[in-house]
Amino acid sequence: MEHLYGMLSGYAESDIYPYHMPGHKRRSWGELPEAMYRMDITEIEGFDNLHQPEGILKELQKEAARLYGAEESYYLVNGSTCGILSAVSSAIPFGGHILMARNCHKSAYHAAYLRHLKVSYLYSDCMAAYGIWDAVTPEQVRVALEAEGNIRAVLLVSPTYEGRIADVSGIARIVHERGIPLIVDEAHGAHLGLAEGFPENSCQAGADLVIHSVHKTLPALTQTALLHVNGHLVNRDRLRRFLRIYQSSSPSYLLMAGIDNALEYVRKQGKTAFGQFRERYIKMTEALKECRCLRILSGSVREQDVGKLVISAGRSGITGKQLSDILLNKYHLQTEMSSMGFVLAMFTLNDAEEAYQRMTEALLEIDDRLTERNADGIFLLEMNVWTGEASAEKGKSIPLWEAWDMEAEEIVLKDSIGRYAAEFVNLYPPGVPLLVPGERMTEGLYREILRDLEAGLTIQGIRVGAGKGCFPDGIFIKMITESALLCRCRCCDGFGQGL
Ligand SMILES: Cc1ncc(COP(=O)(O)O)c(C=O)c1O
Repeated sequence: MEHLYGMLSGYAESDIYPYHMPGHKRRSWGELPEAMYRMDITEIEGFDNLHQPEGILKELQKEAARLYGAEESYYLVNGSTCGILSAVSSAIPFGGHILMARNCHKSAYHAAYLRHLKVSYLYSDCMAAYGIWDAVTPEQVRVALEAEGNIRAVLLVSPTYEGRIADVSGIARIVHERGIPLIVDEAHGAHLGLAEGFPENSCQAGADLVIHSVHKTLPALTQTALLHVNGHLVNRDRLRRFLRIYQSSSPSYLLMAGIDNALEYVRKQGKTAFGQFRERYIKMTEALKECRCLRILSGSVREQDVGKLVISAGRSGITGKQLSDILLNKYHLQTEMSSMGFVLAMFTLNDAEEAYQRMTEALLEIDDRLTERNADGIFLLEMNVWTGEASAEKGKSIPLWEAWDMEAEEIVLKDSIGRYAAEFVNLYPPGVPLLVPGERMTEGLYREILRDLEAGLTIQGIRVGAGKGCFPDGIFIKMITESALLCRCRCCDGFGQGL
């Protein structure tokens, strides 16, 4: 089989002169490596075209489909973001109704905005000891589908950002009984279904559209991703149309070669690398059972992804952010993210034994110095209050596509309770919205935001004024103006449904 990186390096060594884009003319400038520029080309003779593949790219996409057990696969150079936008846009007609997990990535919300979708949410269980959402269950999907008429597609995330894996085949059966497609954002699961001892991936589990970020869990460059399609419930011409809309018309050959390279790594190194990956994780979590204060989220490999280590510091009374600061400053271990309740560390096939050892030793040593205070409740109460309030607000919000374009004003955060948001408020990472335009600020969420800010977490969509003493009067948020709400009320009878 021919590979893109082989073709590109052959071309880089040739004496062919480039009278074409990119403007660097395959010459390096500054500090970036020469090899990168030499291989960075555009759609020239022999290198095919991602938007109409007939040669090498067509072959590579077929190989990707074979690897994951999909009918068709598409290389993506704008991340899972463009895969999710395209999947949602093609699976649901403009103005249609989507049932989606509340912990979806912001790109799913962006698709709903662009396509004027009516959105109903699936709220999964809150894992109170960690302050995270569990994966959505088949029963939750069944109940939601029974409650809502006219849903045109279901979208869920599995594994979640924190590694919770859903029973996708159970969910696919329920969704397909309705004759509608199931879309799975498997951005964090490009390593699933490829080796023994790992859970099946969502293509194998029967989902219609599956999105993988190759760059998140496999050795590939940032922005690389795949979109897989199965069955007859999604029109593939529409899907390709949206891929043309949401993807660059100049897809990077370096990124595409990166996907090819990563999948070849899986084929060649797969067995040994996957085996070690799983064993090392299991050994680490076994050793960490010794901890008295720190709590490690565990479960079978079908429930909890071996690429994600979720560590709660709750019982000791320190926050996740404080724990991640200790890991970074004292042990030089940079974790993926931290929140009030936990720290998330990521492991992939590319981590050597040392990565597991360093993390294990650091956590055992930290745990030894912490004092048990049974403080879970203090940190996690707010999240429970907030998720409860959020689902109680169901049906009382303004549709996202409408709200995000309404007139907005910036006000002091504490005055926002009960008012409608004009902007997303995201805890970043991972970019899952706490508040969506058109939803009302609740008391619980207000307190949650204050606590997160005080703990030093990054909240997008909130402006914190400069200087000391800015809490809470110097924190600002954009809300929909009263006059825009009145105008909406008069023009479209928008308040008829419980607002
Ligand atoms: C669950 C989930 N889906 C989708 C995305 C978007 O992926 P990408 O960065 O490849 O566009 C992310 C990014 O963090 C994510 O966490």
